[in-house]
Amino acid sequence: MLVVHGPNLNLLGERSPDVYGSQTLEELNAQIQRHAEARGVAVEFFQSNHEGAILDRLHEARRRVDGLVINPGALAHYSYALRDAIEAIGLPAVEVHLSNVQEREPFRRVSVLAPVCLAQIHGKGVQSYLDGIDRLLSHLRGVQALDSDSPTA
Ligand code: DQA
Repeated sequence: MLVVHGPNLNLLGERSPDVYGSQTLEELNAQIQRHAEARGVAVEFFQSNHEGAILDRLHEARRRVDGLVINPGALAHYSYALRDAIEAIGLPAVEVHLSNVQEREPFRRVSVLAPVCLAQIHGKGVQSYLDGIDRLLSHLRGVQALDSDSPTA
């Protein structure tokens, strides 16, 4: 699985700790890594403050990974380019947010990515990512089960 962190998430730990917690991105990734390992899932991480770099990474990973957990940061609220990229790569994706975007400023309630993601998980801190991994995993296992049910030629 590919775990992507969007703009400003490199500043975790010092950026509004009352909203986003005091963990650094490195610490958060280590927790996600342990969670994934315990489930036998390999994860890779990518953070960028640049929309185009995120798009490039999604394109590059599209045939290498099985799914995407993405905290798009503010891109969630307006990036149709990111929306189109998620749709174009055809990987199952879960959108996650550390904070409760539904109970903050009105612009954060809008996600232009929601229509192309399996789910949006928000407001749980690092647990949003962990639940995102699990959501993706149960989706992938469901797809696998369906595949093995289907008759072989
Ligand atoms: C965020 C929420 C976004 O609205 C914000 O722009 C972020 C972080 C979160 O994880 O809660 O950068 O995605």
